[in-house]
Amino acid sequence: EGNNGLDISSLLKTTGDVTLDVGFVNTASCKSEITYIDGGEGILRYRGYPIEQLAAKSSFLETSYLLIYGELPTATQLEEFDQRIRRHTLLLEDMKGFFNGFPRDAHPMPVLSSAVSALGTFYQDSLDPFDPEAVEISTIRLMAKLPTIAAYAFRKSQGQPFLYPNNDYNLVENFLWMTFGQPTEDYQLDPVVAKALDLLFILHADHEQNCSTSTVRLVGSSEANLFSSISAGIHALSGPLHGGANSAVLTMLDQIKESGGDVKDFVSKVKNKEEGVKLMGFGHRVYKNYDPRAALVKQTAHEIFSKVGGGNPLLDLAMELEQTALEDDYFVERKLYPNVDFYTGLIYESMGFPSNMFTVLFAIGRLPGWIAQWREMINDPATKIGRPRQLYVGSPARDYVAADAR
Ligand code: ACO
Repeated sequence: EGNNGLDISSLLKTTGDVTLDVGFVNTASCKSEITYIDGGEGILRYRGYPIEQLAAKSSFLETSYLLIYGELPTATQLEEFDQRIRRHTLLLEDMKGFFNGFPRDAHPMPVLSSAVSALGTFYQDSLDPFDPEAVEISTIRLMAKLPTIAAYAFRKSQGQPFLYPNNDYNLVENFLWMTFGQPTEDYQLDPVVAKALDLLFILHADHEQNCSTSTVRLVGSSEANLFSSISAGIHALSGPLHGGANSAVLTMLDQIKESGGDVKDFVSKVKNKEEGVKLMGFGHRVYKNYDPRAALVKQTAHEIFSKVGGGNPLLDLAMELEQTALEDDYFVERKLYPNVDFYTGLIYESMGFPSNMFTVLFAIGRLPGWIAQWREMINDPATKIGRPRQLYVGSPARDYVAADAR
């Protein structure tokens, strides 16, 4: 039995001088002061502050500052952070050509990771991972430019012109403007949408050593620069078992609806593991209790649907699915609960985002966590290049055979 009651006996095996721990179920790769999770109790804290308090009282900008610099900012520090970010939201004009090189139907996630990687070619003055000023300006550039890149990727896929940032808006509002604004029309920012998106970004901002964050740290441990490390993290996030789950949930709900809305039939397919069908948005490596972020997202889903355009039949379907699963022995025995992404797709859709943008939104939210973790890693004297071992199970030594004799 490992942490959180996981049965890891079949995965964790010590052989000679290596330990086989497939999927790193029970291996800590670092010490960290950033995020605390108690998966058994369903507790999440950033720098000691409960996620529920940050969700109720903080903003994405303030939470980002907290994660990156370790303390809540004073009013002056927050204002300075905000102003610095507003000054860096523009992309260099040359980067537009970069977007135009992608096919119209390009998925925005690889566009996002490619553009972040390319920042290293546009800002060669700030690549040294051990120069604090370079790291600081890269931090600000990433925080400021990722929403612009994400909005450009979206507009490219819609065949619409790019909109320059409007720095009268804050980070989240500016992103909504660049995504949904029209150059010829007055743009009416919806404060309900902006507030809900801000909250969702707070809930996604860090989650200790998940797949993408571990990727950021692993790539950074070779002393690769911040842009390259974050770009790798975006790739890791794109998979359906990680950040891609939010759009997979909506696909699943659509399929259930189209095939007659029989939730119990779908749940039995999941239990019988028919064609690898999973209940997307359920289960978590660490949480063996209700994901505290999912509870907050569910509440937001209700609020936003009551304010923006009435109800959504898929929300009712999602709630029926959740209830059915929570009462079913299969899910109870395996301690499978909704995770943060069970309800987020529904909210993003109601805001007007197409499903291929959902994981991009996750990336914007997770960015401060990736940056904080990378900075902690690079400044930690105990950091070594990440280099797992393996258990070799291939052929024993044998002699080379010439091609005509094989
Ligand atoms: N639906 C059905 N069964 C599941 C699910 C699910 N969503 N998740 C886990 N299980 C089952 C497994 O089949 C396994 O059953 P078994 O003991 O009969 O073999 C058991 O529960 C344990 O699951 P593992 O796959 O060993 O758990 P692991 O920790 O490796 O996986 C993961 C965690 C990847 C999140 C998994 O629960 C999953 O695939 N969920 C669906 C995808 C998803 O929602 N991902 C988002 C994760 S949160 C995030 O990244 C924001």
